[in-house]
Amino acid sequence: MTEQMENIRKRAGKCAEVIKSQKSVHVVSHIDADGLSSAGIICTALERAGIEYSTRFVKQLDETTLDKIADENPGLVIFTDLGSGMCEPMKARGIRAVVSDHHRPQGELEFPELHLNPHLFGANGSYELSGSGTTYILASALGKNRDLADLAIVGAVGDMQHLKMGQLTGINREILEEGVEAGVLRHKKDLTLFGKQTRPIFKLLQYSSDPYLPGLTGDEDACIEFLKERGVRFSKEERWRRWIELEAPEKQKLVSGLVQYCLHLGLPTYKIERLVGEVYELLKEREGTEMRDASEYATLLNATARYDHAEIGLAVCMGNREEAYEDARKLLAEHRQNLVNGLVYVKKEGVTELENIQYFNAGSEIKETIVGIIAGMSSTIVSNRNLPIIAFANTDGGIKVSARATQDLIRRGVNLSEAMEKISAEVGGAGGGHDIAAGATIPEGTRDEFTQKLDSFIGNQLKK
Ligand code: C5P
Ligand code: C5P
Ligand code: ZN
Repeated sequence: MTEQMENIRKRAGKCAEVIKSQKSVHVVSHIDADGLSSAGIICTALERAGIEYSTRFVKQLDETTLDKIADENPGLVIFTDLGSGMCEPMKARGIRAVVSDHHRPQGELEFPELHLNPHLFGANGSYELSGSGTTYILASALGKNRDLADLAIVGAVGDMQHLKMGQLTGINREILEEGVEAGVLRHKKDLTLFGKQTRPIFKLLQYSSDPYLPGLTGDEDACIEFLKERGVRFSKEERWRRWIELEAPEKQKLVSGLVQYCLHLGLPTYKIERLVGEVYELLKEREGTEMRDASEYATLLNATARYDHAEIGLAVCMGNREEAYEDARKLLAEHRQNLVNGLVYVKKEGVTELENIQYFNAGSEIKETIVGIIAGMSSTIVSNRNLPIIAFANTDGGIKVSARATQDLIRRGVNLSEAMEKISAEVGGAGGGHDIAAGATIPEGTRDEFTQKLDSFIGNQLKK
C-alpha cells in the first residue's frame, strides 16, 4: 500500500467509527455516474452494517440546499462526490457531516474533521481518485466491502479519470487491483470506442467522437461499407454482431484496418493511439449488458440521474436487474438521442472564439444537466482544440456554465476549477470542480461580463 493510501485509510477509519455509532444517517450525493456509484457504495455498506439511511441527490451543493438539509435536522450527513467546496457553510449551519469527495476543496478545510478527499493527502482528485473511489475507501473501513471496487471504477471512468494516461493511475489503480484480486474486475487493452457490449459494430464507428473518424463518424452507410470491405459479416440470423461476439483475429484485423484508415487520412498519431486503450470489465455482470463495461455502465447511470431519476440508477447500482434496469435502459435511449440532438445544435449554431476561450449558448435547447457532457463531446467538432470550451444553458433563476479543457491546456497552466470559482463569484454566482472540467451557476444578465472576465483570467493562467 502506498503512503497516500495508508493516510487516507487512517482518516477513513475515523469517519467509519463515527458512522458506526449512528442508528441512521442521511446520504447526499451528486446526480452523475460518479455520484450514483458513490451512493451505491455507501448505501450498500450501510445496509451491510445494519445502519438505516435516507438519500438525496442534488445538481450541486449550494447554500439553499444546505438550508433545507439543516432544517430537516437529519443527524449525521454523509456527503459523497460533493461537499468539499462547502465545508464552511456546513459548519455555519451546524450540520454534522462526513464529506467523501474529490473536488478541489475551497475555504477552511479543518471542518469537518471527517473530511475525506484526495487533495488533502497530496493526490490529484481529477484523475487519481474519484468520488466513488474515495467512498469505496470509506466503505472498506466500515466492513468487508471489497466487492464494491467495481462501482468505484465505474465512477472513475464516468468522470473520465482513465483518459489522462490512457489507463487508471494513482490510488484508482490500487483500487482496481483490489477489485481484480476480489474477482470482480478485469482490465485489458482493447478498442476504446463506446458500446462494445451492447451495440452493433457499425454503431461504434458511427458514433465515434474521440477520435473523430472523418468519413465514418455520423455516416451509417459508410460505416457498414467499411466493415463489409474488411470482411466483417452479419451473424447467421442476419443480425449485426457486437464487438464482444467477434473472434480475436477479426478484432485485430478491424483495429489495424481502422489504424490504417486514420493514417491514410493523415490524423495525428496521438489521436490514432486513442483508438486502443485500457478498458474495464465488471465480472459479476452478465456479458452483453451495459453493466459489464465500466464506460457503458457509467453512461447508463448518467441517463437516470441527470433526468431526475437518480433513484433508478441507485437501484441498479445496488443490484436491481429487473424493473429498475429496464427503466434505466429506456432512459438511456432518450439520453442518447438528447446527446445527438445537442451536438447537432452546437454544430448548427457554431462556437464563438475569443482570444483565450470559445463558447456556445444552448439557451433552453440543451438541458443544463447534460450541457457539460455535450461541451466535452463537442471538442471533436470545433475547429480549434487549443481553447477551453465554455457552454451556457438556462437554469431556474440563472445561467448554468459548463467548462471543459484538454490535457494540453492543463499543462500550459489552465485550471478551470479556479477560474470558475473566482469569476463566478465576481458576478455573484458560485462554481468549482476540477482543473479539466468545471462548472458554475451565475445570475441572469451576467453572461457577457462573465465571458469577458473569464477570457482574460484564462489568458493570465496561460501567461504564468
Ligand atoms: O462532479 P464530477 O467530478 O463528478 O464531474 C466531473 C466531470 O468532468 C464529468 O462530467 C466528467 O465527464 C468530466 N471530465 C471531462 N474530461 C476529463 C475529466 C473529467 O470531461 N478529462
Ligand atoms: O455540470 P458539469 O458537468 O459541467 O460540471 C463539471 C464539474 O464542475 C463537476 O465536477 C461539477 O461538480 C462541478 N460544478 C461545480 N459547481 C457548479 C457546477 C458544476 O462545482 N455550480
Ligand atoms: Zn466525481
